[in-house]
Amino acid sequence: MKGAGCCRVSYDMGEKLVIRGGRRLEGEVMVSGGKNAALAVVPAALLADSPSVIENLPDINDIHVLLEMMRWLGAEVSFQDNVLRVDPRPVNKCNPPYELTSRMRASYYLAPVLMGVFGHAQVPLPGGCDIGARPIDQTLKAMRTLGARADTLGGNLEVSAEELIGNDIFLDMPSVGATVNSMLTAVSASGTTCIHNAAKEPHIVDLANFLSAMGAWVKGAGTDVIRVRGGRHLHGANYTIIPDQIETGTLMIAAAATAGDVVITGAIPAHMEALSAKLLEMGVRVESEDDWIHVRSNGVFRAVNVKTQGYPGYPTDLQQPLSALLTVARGTSIVTETIFENRFRFLDELRKMGANVRVIESSAIISGVDNLVSARVNATDLRAGAAMVIAALMAEGETEIGGVEYILRGYERFDEKLRALGACVERVSSRSYAPV
Ligand code: UD1
Repeated sequence: MKGAGCCRVSYDMGEKLVIRGGRRLEGEVMVSGGKNAALAVVPAALLADSPSVIENLPDINDIHVLLEMMRWLGAEVSFQDNVLRVDPRPVNKCNPPYELTSRMRASYYLAPVLMGVFGHAQVPLPGGCDIGARPIDQTLKAMRTLGARADTLGGNLEVSAEELIGNDIFLDMPSVGATVNSMLTAVSASGTTCIHNAAKEPHIVDLANFLSAMGAWVKGAGTDVIRVRGGRHLHGANYTIIPDQIETGTLMIAAAATAGDVVITGAIPAHMEALSAKLLEMGVRVESEDDWIHVRSNGVFRAVNVKTQGYPGYPTDLQQPLSALLTVARGTSIVTETIFENRFRFLDELRKMGANVRVIESSAIISGVDNLVSARVNATDLRAGAAMVIAALMAEGETEIGGVEYILRGYERFDEKLRALGACVERVSSRSYAPV
Protein backbone atom coordinates (compact mmCIF):
# COMPACT_ATOMS: atom_id res chain seq x y z
CA MET A 1 0.00 0.00 0.00
CA LYS A 2 1.29 3.46 -0.86
CA GLY A 3 2.24 5.40 2.22
CA ALA A 4 3.23 2.37 4.22
CA GLY A 5 6.36 3.01 6.21
CA CYS A 6 5.69 6.71 6.67
CA CYS A 7 7.46 6.61 9.98
CA ARG A 8 10.65 4.94 8.77
CA VAL A 9 12.67 8.07 9.52
CA SER A 10 13.95 7.98 13.06
CA TYR A 11 16.61 9.72 15.06
CA ASP A 12 18.82 8.10 17.62
CA MET A 13 17.88 10.38 20.48
CA GLY A 14 20.73 8.94 22.53
CA GLU A 15 23.64 10.10 20.41
CA LYS A 16 26.29 12.52 21.61
CA LEU A 17 29.27 14.23 20.10
CA VAL A 18 32.41 13.96 22.16
CA ILE A 19 34.95 16.60 21.21
CA ARG A 20 38.46 17.04 22.57
CA GLY A 21 39.22 20.72 22.02
CA GLY A 22 42.41 22.57 21.25
CA ARG A 23 43.16 21.01 17.84
CA ARG A 24 43.91 23.34 14.94
CA LEU A 25 41.74 22.73 11.84
CA GLU A 26 43.79 22.50 8.67
CA GLY A 27 43.16 21.41 5.10
CA GLU A 28 40.38 21.49 2.55
CA VAL A 29 36.71 20.78 3.05
CA MET A 30 33.88 20.65 0.53
CA VAL A 31 30.59 22.27 1.42
CA SER A 32 27.34 20.31 0.85
CA GLY A 33 24.19 21.41 -0.96
CA GLY A 34 21.97 23.99 0.68
CA LYS A 35 19.42 22.66 3.17
CA ASN A 36 17.01 25.56 2.92
CA ALA A 37 17.31 25.70 -0.87
CA ALA A 38 16.66 21.97 -1.17
CA LEU A 39 13.65 22.13 1.15
CA ALA A 40 12.01 24.64 -1.22
CA VAL A 41 13.14 23.12 -4.53
CA VAL A 42 12.20 19.48 -3.87
CA PRO A 43 8.46 20.08 -3.17
CA ALA A 44 8.30 22.27 -6.30
CA ALA A 45 9.18 19.18 -8.37
CA LEU A 46 5.66 17.88 -7.61
CA LEU A 47 4.20 20.66 -9.80
CA ALA A 48 5.70 19.09 -12.94
CA ASP A 49 4.12 16.54 -15.25
CA SER A 50 7.37 14.60 -15.68
CA PRO A 51 10.34 13.50 -13.54
CA SER A 52 13.08 15.80 -12.24
CA VAL A 53 16.69 15.05 -11.35
CA ILE A 54 18.04 17.22 -8.55
CA GLU A 55 21.75 17.08 -7.82
CA ASN A 56 23.84 18.21 -4.85
CA LEU A 57 21.00 17.47 -2.45
CA PRO A 58 22.40 17.33 1.10
CA ASP A 59 22.17 13.93 2.75
CA ILE A 60 20.67 15.19 6.02
CA ASN A 61 17.74 14.18 8.17
CA ASP A 62 15.47 17.05 7.07
CA ILE A 63 15.79 15.84 3.47
CA HIS A 64 15.09 12.24 4.48
CA VAL A 65 11.92 13.37 6.25
CA LEU A 66 10.84 15.42 3.21
CA LEU A 67 11.45 12.47 0.88
CA GLU A 68 9.38 10.23 3.18
CA MET A 69 6.56 12.78 2.87
CA MET A 70 6.89 12.77 -0.93
CA ARG A 71 6.76 8.95 -1.00
CA TRP A 72 3.77 8.96 1.32
CA LEU A 73 1.98 11.30 -1.12
CA GLY A 74 2.68 8.77 -3.88
CA ALA A 75 5.75 10.21 -5.64
CA GLU A 76 8.41 7.82 -6.89
CA VAL A 77 11.61 8.89 -5.23
CA SER A 78 15.16 7.60 -5.34
CA PHE A 79 18.04 9.29 -3.55
CA GLN A 80 21.61 8.15 -3.93
CA ASP A 81 24.99 9.88 -3.84
CA ASN A 82 23.28 13.26 -3.32
CA VAL A 83 21.19 12.88 -6.48
CA LEU A 84 17.41 12.81 -6.24
CA ARG A 85 15.21 11.38 -8.95
CA VAL A 86 11.57 12.23 -8.39
CA ASP A 87 8.61 11.25 -10.52
CA PRO A 88 5.56 13.25 -9.41
CA ARG A 89 3.06 11.55 -11.74
CA PRO A 90 1.84 8.88 -9.29
CA VAL A 91 1.11 11.43 -6.53
CA ASN A 92 -2.44 10.73 -5.35
CA LYS A 93 -2.71 12.21 -1.84
CA CYS A 94 -2.76 15.77 -0.58
CA ASN A 95 -2.62 15.29 3.20
CA PRO A 96 0.84 14.40 4.52
CA PRO A 97 0.80 12.97 8.06
CA TYR A 98 1.60 14.86 11.25
CA GLU A 99 4.31 12.33 12.22
CA LEU A 100 6.38 13.64 9.33
CA THR A 101 5.31 17.28 8.93
CA SER A 102 5.90 18.00 12.61
CA ARG A 103 9.59 17.22 12.18
CA MET A 104 10.48 20.28 10.18
CA ARG A 105 9.46 23.79 9.37
CA ALA A 106 9.48 23.57 5.59
CA SER A 107 6.80 20.85 5.41
CA TYR A 108 4.23 23.59 4.78
CA TYR A 109 5.81 24.27 1.36
CA LEU A 110 3.81 21.21 0.29
CA ALA A 111 0.52 23.10 0.82
CA PRO A 112 0.72 25.48 -2.19
CA VAL A 113 2.20 22.71 -4.35
CA LEU A 114 -0.55 20.19 -3.55
CA MET A 115 -3.18 22.91 -3.93
CA GLY A 116 -1.74 23.61 -7.41
CA VAL A 117 -2.04 19.91 -8.29
CA PHE A 118 -5.34 18.90 -6.59
CA GLY A 119 -7.07 22.23 -5.89
CA HIS A 120 -6.87 21.56 -2.16
CA ALA A 121 -4.50 20.28 0.53
CA GLN A 122 -4.36 19.64 4.24
CA VAL A 123 -0.94 19.88 5.87
CA PRO A 124 -0.50 19.62 9.64
CA LEU A 125 1.11 22.80 10.94
CA PRO A 126 4.87 22.84 10.60
CA GLY A 127 7.37 21.89 13.27
CA GLY A 128 11.08 22.70 13.19
CA CYS A 129 13.44 24.25 15.71
CA ASP A 130 11.88 25.97 18.71
CA ILE A 131 13.63 29.30 18.22
CA GLY A 132 10.70 31.61 18.83
CA ALA A 133 7.18 32.26 17.55
CA ARG A 134 6.97 31.11 13.96
CA PRO A 135 3.61 32.41 12.74
CA ILE A 136 2.36 31.71 9.20
CA ASP A 137 0.01 34.69 8.86
CA GLN A 138 1.94 36.03 5.84
CA THR A 139 1.55 32.72 3.99
CA LEU A 140 -2.19 32.72 4.70
CA LYS A 141 -2.49 36.32 3.52
CA ALA A 142 -0.52 35.66 0.33
CA MET A 143 -2.59 32.61 -0.60
CA ARG A 144 -5.85 34.47 0.08
CA THR A 145 -4.66 37.38 -2.05
CA LEU A 146 -4.41 34.98 -4.98
CA GLY A 147 -7.97 33.71 -4.39
CA ALA A 148 -7.38 30.66 -2.19
CA ARG A 149 -9.17 29.76 1.01
CA ALA A 150 -6.43 29.29 3.55
CA ASP A 151 -7.02 28.59 7.24
CA THR A 152 -5.52 26.85 10.20
CA LEU A 153 -8.09 24.43 11.58
CA GLY A 154 -7.55 21.72 14.20
CA GLY A 155 -3.78 21.98 13.91
CA ASN A 156 -3.84 21.78 10.12
CA LEU A 157 -3.12 24.26 7.36
CA GLU A 158 -6.11 23.81 5.04
CA VAL A 159 -5.97 25.38 1.62
CA SER A 160 -8.23 25.18 -1.42
CA ALA A 161 -9.03 27.12 -4.57
CA GLU A 162 -11.32 26.69 -7.57
CA GLU A 163 -9.21 29.24 -9.39
CA LEU A 164 -6.05 31.12 -8.47
CA ILE A 165 -5.63 34.59 -10.00
CA GLY A 166 -2.40 36.62 -9.99
CA ASN A 167 -2.37 39.73 -7.80
CA ASP A 168 -0.11 42.04 -5.76
CA ILE A 169 1.07 40.46 -2.50
CA PHE A 170 2.52 42.84 0.10
CA LEU A 171 4.43 40.96 2.78
CA ASP A 172 4.63 42.72 6.17
CA MET A 173 8.19 41.48 6.55
CA PRO A 174 10.58 39.74 4.14
CA SER A 175 9.71 36.27 5.41
CA VAL A 176 11.56 33.40 3.71
CA GLY A 177 8.71 30.95 4.23
CA ALA A 178 6.00 33.33 3.02
CA THR A 179 8.07 34.28 -0.04
CA VAL A 180 8.55 30.60 -0.95
CA ASN A 181 4.84 29.87 -0.44
CA SER A 182 3.85 32.95 -2.47
CA MET A 183 6.04 31.84 -5.37
CA LEU A 184 4.79 28.25 -5.19
CA THR A 185 1.17 29.49 -5.23
CA ALA A 186 1.75 32.11 -7.93
CA VAL A 187 3.07 29.62 -10.51
CA SER A 188 -0.37 27.97 -10.47
CA ALA A 189 -2.29 31.27 -10.69
CA SER A 190 -3.38 32.77 -13.98
CA GLY A 191 -1.90 36.19 -14.79
CA THR A 192 0.89 38.08 -13.06
CA THR A 193 1.68 38.06 -9.34
CA CYS A 194 4.00 40.66 -7.78
CA ILE A 195 5.44 39.70 -4.41
CA HIS A 196 6.47 42.94 -2.68
CA ASN A 197 8.92 43.05 0.24
CA ALA A 198 10.10 39.57 -0.71
CA ALA A 199 12.93 37.78 1.09
CA LYS A 200 16.20 37.97 -0.86
CA GLU A 201 18.02 34.92 0.54
CA PRO A 202 20.09 32.80 -1.88
CA HIS A 203 17.63 29.92 -1.50
CA ILE A 204 14.83 32.15 -2.86
CA VAL A 205 16.91 32.69 -5.99
CA ASP A 206 17.57 28.95 -6.18
CA LEU A 207 13.86 28.18 -6.06
CA ALA A 208 13.21 30.77 -8.79
CA ASN A 209 15.91 29.20 -10.96
CA PHE A 210 14.45 25.73 -10.52
CA LEU A 211 10.92 26.95 -11.32
CA SER A 212 12.30 28.67 -14.44
CA ALA A 213 14.05 25.44 -15.45
CA MET A 214 10.62 23.76 -15.13
CA GLY A 215 9.15 26.27 -17.58
CA ALA A 216 7.81 28.91 -15.17
CA TRP A 217 8.23 32.67 -15.70
CA VAL A 218 9.79 34.13 -12.55
CA LYS A 219 11.73 37.42 -12.47
CA GLY A 220 13.28 39.55 -9.75
CA ALA A 221 14.24 36.84 -7.24
CA GLY A 222 17.02 38.23 -5.06
CA THR A 223 15.39 41.70 -5.09
CA ASP A 224 12.50 43.13 -3.06
CA VAL A 225 9.94 42.44 -5.79
CA ILE A 226 9.45 39.07 -7.44
CA ARG A 227 7.14 38.80 -10.43
CA VAL A 228 5.58 35.51 -11.51
CA ARG A 229 3.49 34.94 -14.64
CA GLY A 230 1.59 31.86 -13.63
CA GLY A 231 -0.52 29.20 -15.25
CA ARG A 232 2.25 27.80 -17.45
CA HIS A 233 2.74 24.14 -18.14
CA LEU A 234 5.55 22.89 -15.87
CA HIS A 235 7.77 19.98 -16.78
CA GLY A 236 10.49 18.12 -14.88
CA ALA A 237 14.00 19.57 -14.94
CA ASN A 238 17.61 18.69 -14.22
CA TYR A 239 18.91 20.99 -11.53
CA THR A 240 21.84 21.42 -9.13
CA ILE A 241 21.21 22.86 -5.66
CA ILE A 242 23.45 25.77 -4.54
CA PRO A 243 26.00 25.21 -1.76
CA ASP A 244 24.80 25.65 1.79
CA GLN A 245 25.39 29.21 2.97
CA ILE A 246 25.07 28.32 6.64
CA GLU A 247 27.30 25.25 6.52
CA THR A 248 29.91 27.35 4.70
CA GLY A 249 29.69 29.97 7.43
CA THR A 250 29.84 27.41 10.22
CA LEU A 251 33.01 25.91 8.74
CA MET A 252 34.52 29.41 8.32
CA ILE A 253 33.85 30.17 11.99
CA ALA A 254 35.17 26.76 13.08
CA ALA A 255 38.38 27.37 11.13
CA ALA A 256 38.83 30.78 12.74
CA ALA A 257 37.97 29.47 16.22
CA THR A 258 40.74 26.86 16.16
CA ALA A 259 43.45 29.24 14.87
CA GLY A 260 43.12 27.15 11.74
CA ASP A 261 44.06 27.32 8.09
CA VAL A 262 41.18 25.94 6.05
CA VAL A 263 40.06 26.20 2.42
CA ILE A 264 36.33 25.70 1.98
CA THR A 265 35.60 24.53 -1.55
CA GLY A 266 32.39 24.34 -3.57
CA ALA A 267 31.17 27.54 -1.90
CA ILE A 268 29.70 30.79 -3.24
CA PRO A 269 31.83 33.55 -1.62
CA ALA A 270 29.29 36.26 -2.55
CA HIS A 271 26.73 34.62 -0.23
CA MET A 272 29.18 34.94 2.67
CA GLU A 273 29.97 38.64 2.56
CA ALA A 274 28.22 39.61 5.81
CA LEU A 275 30.13 36.92 7.74
CA SER A 276 33.44 37.52 5.94
CA ALA A 277 33.22 41.22 6.83
CA LYS A 278 32.65 40.37 10.53
CA LEU A 279 35.52 37.88 10.60
CA LEU A 280 37.85 40.42 8.96
CA GLU A 281 36.76 42.98 11.58
CA MET A 282 37.67 40.43 14.26
CA GLY A 283 41.18 40.00 12.84
CA VAL A 284 40.65 36.78 10.87
CA ARG A 285 42.15 36.49 7.38
CA VAL A 286 39.53 35.65 4.76
CA GLU A 287 40.35 35.35 1.08
CA SER A 288 38.14 34.03 -1.66
CA GLU A 289 37.87 33.52 -5.36
CA ASP A 290 35.56 31.61 -7.70
CA ASP A 291 34.21 28.80 -5.52
CA TRP A 292 36.58 28.71 -2.56
CA ILE A 293 37.12 30.62 0.67
CA HIS A 294 40.41 30.49 2.58
CA VAL A 295 40.18 31.24 6.31
CA ARG A 296 43.29 31.70 8.47
CA SER A 297 43.55 32.94 12.01
CA ASN A 298 46.09 33.28 14.80
CA GLY A 299 43.45 32.62 17.45
CA VAL A 300 43.31 36.21 18.71
CA PHE A 301 40.01 37.98 18.04
CA ARG A 302 38.72 41.53 18.46
CA ALA A 303 35.19 41.92 19.88
CA VAL A 304 32.57 43.10 17.37
CA ASN A 305 28.90 44.05 17.34
CA VAL A 306 26.51 42.02 15.21
CA LYS A 307 22.84 42.50 14.32
CA THR A 308 20.90 39.77 12.52
CA GLN A 309 18.96 40.75 9.41
CA GLY A 310 17.51 39.26 6.26
CA TYR A 311 19.92 38.73 3.36
CA PRO A 312 22.24 40.45 2.50
CA GLY A 313 22.46 41.35 6.21
CA TYR A 314 24.04 39.10 8.83
CA PRO A 315 22.02 35.81 8.89
CA THR A 316 20.24 34.76 12.07
CA ASP A 317 21.31 31.16 11.34
CA LEU A 318 24.94 32.19 11.89
CA GLN A 319 24.27 34.23 15.01
CA GLN A 320 24.78 31.35 17.42
CA PRO A 321 28.00 29.98 15.85
CA LEU A 322 29.55 33.48 15.79
CA SER A 323 28.40 34.17 19.37
CA ALA A 324 30.32 31.05 20.43
CA LEU A 325 33.48 32.47 18.86
CA LEU A 326 32.90 35.90 20.43
CA THR A 327 33.04 34.35 23.92
CA VAL A 328 36.85 34.35 23.58
CA ALA A 329 37.26 37.68 21.74
CA ARG A 330 39.14 40.53 23.44
CA GLY A 331 36.63 43.03 24.76
CA THR A 332 32.86 43.13 24.82
CA SER A 333 30.65 42.22 21.86
CA ILE A 334 26.98 43.06 21.49
CA VAL A 335 24.95 40.58 19.45
CA THR A 336 21.43 41.71 18.62
CA GLU A 337 18.91 39.12 17.42
CA THR A 338 16.09 40.72 15.44
CA ILE A 339 14.51 37.64 13.80
CA PHE A 340 13.93 34.87 16.38
CA GLU A 341 13.56 35.77 20.05
CA ASN A 342 14.48 32.35 21.47
CA ARG A 343 17.83 32.15 19.77
CA PHE A 344 19.69 33.09 22.95
CA ARG A 345 18.60 30.08 25.01
CA PHE A 346 21.80 28.26 24.06
CA LEU A 347 23.79 30.87 25.98
CA ASP A 348 22.97 28.92 29.18
CA GLU A 349 24.94 26.03 27.66
CA LEU A 350 27.85 28.32 26.74
CA ARG A 351 27.91 29.64 30.32
CA LYS A 352 28.52 26.07 31.52
CA MET A 353 31.73 26.26 29.48
CA GLY A 354 32.83 29.46 31.18
CA ALA A 355 31.40 32.08 28.79
CA ASN A 356 30.63 35.48 30.30
CA VAL A 357 27.31 36.45 28.73
CA ARG A 358 24.21 38.30 29.77
CA VAL A 359 21.09 39.11 27.81
CA ILE A 360 19.39 42.48 27.81
CA GLU A 361 16.17 42.40 25.79
CA SER A 362 17.12 41.25 22.30
CA SER A 363 20.87 41.67 22.76
CA ALA A 364 23.53 39.39 24.20
CA ILE A 365 26.42 41.18 25.86
CA ILE A 366 29.42 38.91 25.50
CA SER A 367 32.55 39.74 27.50
CA GLY A 368 35.46 37.76 26.15
CA VAL A 369 37.20 35.25 28.47
CA ASP A 370 40.71 33.78 28.02
CA ASN A 371 39.43 30.31 27.26
CA LEU A 372 36.45 28.01 27.52
CA VAL A 373 36.43 24.82 29.56
CA SER A 374 34.89 21.48 28.69
CA ALA A 375 31.46 20.52 30.03
CA ARG A 376 28.41 18.36 29.38
CA VAL A 377 26.14 20.49 27.23
CA ASN A 378 23.16 20.14 24.92
CA ALA A 379 22.30 21.27 21.42
CA THR A 380 19.00 23.05 22.06
CA ASP A 381 18.33 23.54 18.34
CA LEU A 382 20.13 23.03 15.02
CA ARG A 383 22.31 26.14 14.93
CA ALA A 384 22.77 26.07 18.71
CA GLY A 385 24.24 22.62 18.13
CA ALA A 386 26.72 24.08 15.64
CA ALA A 387 27.60 26.77 18.17
CA MET A 388 28.28 24.17 20.85
CA VAL A 389 30.55 22.28 18.46
CA ILE A 390 32.54 25.47 17.84
CA ALA A 391 32.77 26.14 21.56
CA ALA A 392 33.91 22.55 22.16
CA LEU A 393 36.59 22.81 19.45
CA MET A 394 38.03 25.80 21.37
CA ALA A 395 37.66 24.42 24.90
CA GLU A 396 40.31 22.70 26.95
CA GLY A 397 39.45 19.06 27.63
CA GLU A 398 36.63 16.83 26.46
CA THR A 399 33.17 18.27 25.85
CA GLU A 400 30.13 16.07 25.47
CA ILE A 401 27.28 17.51 23.38
CA GLY A 402 23.83 15.92 23.63
CA GLY A 403 21.02 16.47 21.14
CA VAL A 404 23.04 15.37 18.11
CA GLU A 405 19.77 14.73 16.28
CA TYR A 406 19.34 18.49 15.95
CA ILE A 407 22.74 18.87 14.32
CA LEU A 408 22.11 16.01 11.89
CA ARG A 409 18.94 17.73 10.71
CA GLY A 410 21.05 20.31 8.93
CA TYR A 411 24.73 19.35 8.58
CA GLU A 412 25.83 16.56 6.28
CA ARG A 413 28.58 14.32 7.77
CA PHE A 414 29.53 17.19 10.09
CA ASP A 415 31.65 15.06 12.44
CA GLU A 416 33.38 13.37 9.49
CA LYS A 417 34.23 16.68 7.83
CA LEU A 418 35.65 18.10 11.06
CA ARG A 419 37.69 14.94 11.68
CA ALA A 420 39.18 15.18 8.17
CA LEU A 421 40.36 18.69 9.11
CA GLY A 422 42.08 17.35 12.21
CA ALA A 423 39.44 17.78 14.90
CA CYS A 424 39.08 15.14 17.57
CA VAL A 425 35.34 14.44 17.26
CA GLU A 426 33.52 11.22 17.97
CA ARG A 427 29.84 10.39 17.56
CA VAL A 428 28.82 7.93 20.24
CA SER A 429 25.65 6.49 21.60
CA SER A 430 25.21 7.94 25.08
CA ARG A 431 24.33 4.47 26.32
CA SER A 432 27.73 3.13 25.28
CA TYR A 433 29.74 6.20 26.23
CA ALA A 434 31.85 5.94 29.33
CA PRO A 435 33.94 9.06 29.91
CA VAL A 436 37.59 8.36 30.66
C1 UD1 B 1 13.74 30.41 7.26
C2 UD1 B 1 14.85 29.39 7.39
C3 UD1 B 1 15.55 29.53 8.72
C4 UD1 B 1 16.03 30.96 8.92
C5 UD1 B 1 14.92 31.95 8.67
C6 UD1 B 1 15.40 33.39 8.68
C7 UD1 B 1 14.06 27.57 6.03
C8 UD1 B 1 13.51 26.19 5.99
N1 UD1 B 1 14.25 28.08 7.25
O1 UD1 B 1 12.80 30.16 8.29
O2 UD1 B 1 16.66 28.63 8.73
O3 UD1 B 1 16.48 31.12 10.24
O4 UD1 B 1 14.32 31.71 7.39
O5 UD1 B 1 16.39 33.56 7.75
O6 UD1 B 1 14.36 28.16 5.02
N2 UD1 B 1 7.12 35.88 10.41
C9 UD1 B 1 5.85 36.32 10.72
N3 UD1 B 1 4.80 35.84 9.98
C10 UD1 B 1 4.96 34.92 8.98
C11 UD1 B 1 6.26 34.49 8.69
C12 UD1 B 1 7.32 34.97 9.41
O7 UD1 B 1 5.66 37.13 11.63
O8 UD1 B 1 3.95 34.51 8.37
C13 UD1 B 1 8.29 36.39 11.17
C14 UD1 B 1 8.96 35.30 12.01
O9 UD1 B 1 8.38 35.20 13.27
C15 UD1 B 1 10.39 35.78 12.06
C16 UD1 B 1 10.59 36.48 10.72
O10 UD1 B 1 9.29 36.77 10.22
O11 UD1 B 1 10.53 36.73 13.07
C17 UD1 B 1 11.36 35.69 9.69
O12 UD1 B 1 10.79 34.42 9.51
P1 UD1 B 1 10.94 33.62 8.15
O13 UD1 B 1 11.87 34.35 7.25
O14 UD1 B 1 9.59 33.30 7.64
O15 UD1 B 1 11.67 32.30 8.64
P2 UD1 B 1 11.35 30.82 8.22
O16 UD1 B 1 10.89 30.76 6.80
O17 UD1 B 1 10.55 30.16 9.27
